[in-house]
Parts: sequence; C-alpha cells; structure tokens
Amino acid sequence: MAETAELILNGQSITLPVIEGTEHEKAFDIGKLRDQTGYVTLDSGYKNTGATKSAITFLDGEEGILRYRGYPIEQLAENSSFLEVGYLLIYGHLPTQAELTNFSNQITKHTLIHEDMRKIFDGFPSSTHPMAILSSLTCALTGFYPESINPNQTADEHNLQIVRLMAKLSTIAAWTYKNSVGHPLNYPRNDLDYCANLLYMMFSFPTEKYEINPVVVTAMNKLLILHADHEQNCSTSTVRLVGSANASLYGSVSAGINALWGPLHGGANQEVIEMLEEIHKSGGDTRKFIDKAKDKNDQFRLMGFGHRVYKNFDPRAKIIKKAADEVLHALGLQDSPLLKIAQELEQAALTDEYFIERKLYPNVDFYSGIIYKALGIPTEMFTVMFALGRLPGWIAQWKEMRENKEPIGRPRQIYTGELERNYLPMAERK
Ligand code: CMC
Repeated sequence: MAETAELILNGQSITLPVIEGTEHEKAFDIGKLRDQTGYVTLDSGYKNTGATKSAITFLDGEEGILRYRGYPIEQLAENSSFLEVGYLLIYGHLPTQAELTNFSNQITKHTLIHEDMRKIFDGFPSSTHPMAILSSLTCALTGFYPESINPNQTADEHNLQIVRLMAKLSTIAAWTYKNSVGHPLNYPRNDLDYCANLLYMMFSFPTEKYEINPVVVTAMNKLLILHADHEQNCSTSTVRLVGSANASLYGSVSAGINALWGPLHGGANQEVIEMLEEIHKSGGDTRKFIDKAKDKNDQFRLMGFGHRVYKNFDPRAKIIKKAADEVLHALGLQDSPLLKIAQELEQAALTDEYFIERKLYPNVDFYSGIIYKALGIPTEMFTVMFALGRLPGWIAQWKEMRENKEPIGRPRQIYTGELERNYLPMAERK
C-alpha cells in the first residue's frame, strides 16, 4: 500500500500522499491542502520545501554527496570536460563521441556575437560590475534573436537557443572583462576548445602570441564542472520561477545571473578573496576574524563557510582544495600568502565550537577564488566564472521545467499587514 501521512487538524484527519524519489527521499504532497482545509504551509527561505520533482542533480547534504544525472561529481571532475558535463546535464546522458563532437562544433559555430552588442558594452559606465553587464547582455540576446521569446517553439528551435547561449555567454564574459580594463576585444578562435578559447579571449593581446597553459585549462575545466549544477539553489530556482511564466530562456537565465551575484550565493567567491586580502593586509590575524564572525552584534560572516544543505562537508570544496594546491604548485605560487591564510582560517574554524555546533564547513567558494586569482582572473570576474559554470545547469533545469509543463510558480503568503481601513483625505492625515 502506498505510504500516506495523516494530518490531524482540529480533530479532523486529512490524508496526505507521500511522494518518494529514486534515492528514497520523501515528501508530503500538500498540493490539495488549501482546498481541503483552508490552510497553507509556511516555510520562509524554502528551508524544507520541495518546489519541484527533478531528475537532474542528486544532493545529500548529510553525506556530502553530489551527482549529476547519477554520476558522482568526483568522477566527472577527474575525467570529464565541461562541455561533456554540459551535455550530460542538458540532455540526460553522457554523450557518445559523435554527440559530443556535434555539440561542441555547434557551440563553436555560435561563439561570435552580433557587432551591435559592442555598442551596448560601450554604453555601460566603467564602474559597472561585470555581473550587471553579463545579465544585461544575456537578456539583450532576446533583441538579436526575437524568436527566442516565443514560448511555443519546437524542440529544435529551443535547442538552437540553448546552443547559442552556451556559445555566446563565454564571449560576452570575456568581452566584459576586456571592456572593463580597456583592452581590445578578442574574437573567439574556433580551433580552440571551450576553456582554451575562453582563456584566449580573456588574456591574449593582438600584439603578442598567446601561449595556452594546459595547467590553467585543466583547472578551469574542473572549476566549471564543479559549478555546473546544484539542484534547486537560489539562482536555479529563480531561473525556473521566471521561466515558469513562459519567459524566454535568455530572460530567465539573465534573472538567474542576478540571483547568483548576491554575496550569500555565488558572489561569495569574490567576498572570500577580499576577506583573505583584508586579513593579510591587517597582519594575518585569523583569530580576530573568527571572533568577529562569531560576534552576534557584528554583521560579519566568514565568507566561504556554511551552506544551506551541506551539513557535513561540501564535496566540491574537497576537490577544489586539492586542485588549488596542485594549481598553485604547478604555477610556482605555492607560497601564496592568501593560500596560507585560507588554510589557517579553515583550521581555526574547524576546531572552533561555534562552527562545529552549527556545522559550518568551507563551501565551494572558499578555495575557488584562490585558483581564479592564481589563473590571473581579476576578483570582480570570479562570479562571472561561476555563472559560466552554472549555465548548463540553469539550461537543463529550465528545459526540464518546460518539458514537464510545470505550472507558473506562485507562492502563497501569510498576510501580516493592516486590516481594511478607509482612505483618508490629505487634510485629515496626521
Ligand atoms: N559565518 C559565521 N556564522 C555563520 C556563517 C558564516 N559564514 N554561516 C552561518 N552562520 C551561523 C548563523 O549566524 C546562524 O547562527 P545562529 O544559529 O546562532 O543564529 C547559523 O550559523 C545558521 O545560519 P543560517 O544563516 O540560518 O544558515 P542558512 O542555511 O540560512 O545560510 C549561508 C547558509 C550559505 C547563506 C550562510 O552559511 C552564509 O551566509 N555563508 C557565508 C556566505 C557564503 O559563503 N555563501 C556561499 C554559499 S555556497 C555557494 C553558493 O550557494 O553559491
């Protein structure tokens, strides 16, 4: 017999169906609760609310497990390429060689962006954060591909939007950087793979031959893979929610980019490095910053620590920590003071009762900034790198939501404002 749950409300019994996932996680289906009882559920921050059923990513926060389409993140980070993982997330299976070649050729073919986009770049004040430019230009793609806003596209037409976005976001990201430092923009090179091309567009100059460092390419690949999806996090939920109104893929992802920018989400990678630099500048006293993070009268948090769902360890942080060590050694930067401070800070926090009690461990953003910095990526671009990595996840989640014909997202609320009152003419107001 199917499992059910019994809710007793004012002596009346209501039966709630139990939904079980393939990994045996369970949920009460409360979809009809309001019709049956007049009550809704309240869960600020969706701490305990499943917003959807999804077959893309499995995450077990207690055990520190993360799998894309069933494949452990450790295996993908070790053996796969970013585009292969992108294909896996979006289409549901590991590609054959022919499928991967075709996917990567398609993406290569679409990396150029419309020349008119350069005019938009020119319109931003130089003080604009790269994430603002990235989200604006992602949304601006709807202007260059107006058919993308049609909600009734065929699968092939949707697919074209997907490939275009995968291709063009890396060019937009690289140009955002070049524009911010006043360097000439580099056009994509079709003879390079995804990561090498991204690095080329970001770091080469027309005046010099650009040597691609395989250590840097490998590290970039790994970082993008580790960021590629993370089930229903803040930015992904944003993409799904916006997309549920039948908004375009570009519009939905643009909204997701803005959500990711927040310092409690992807923006934390920039904040971590700024925090480490501040500790370094102020003499390297990690204890002082740990105490500040524990002080409830101080807003300061230890950036790169804690996670809504990982309460044991973040498996991505484990891989990134090792990668940071390898990359810094390979680039001869093993004596980086920031790496040393990060290690000390981690050690101090992991042995401190405050962090132990609250199960606060380093998250994916703690060491990723150190790698990005070693690769020569400027701090303001860190979250842009995260966005590039997260893109296939956003696309996969948007596509799944559309294919499952999910209804428009529209949460309820508990109203806590004024009761009805009459409009007061200006003269009677105090
Ligand atoms: N430093 C100090 N105290 C912390 C921290 C931290 N980084 N994170 C959580 N706490 C404390 C918090 O003050 C609270 O204490 P108390 O129970 O005494 O009130 C307790 O731990 C629980 O915190 P919470 O804010 O209720 O937990 P949450 O699940 O709502 O927030 C989080 C998760 C990631 C937003 C939070 O841990 C945080 O702000 N971390 C720093 C920012 C960060 O690194 N963000 C990146 C997250 S991973 C990548 C991503 O999502 O993009």
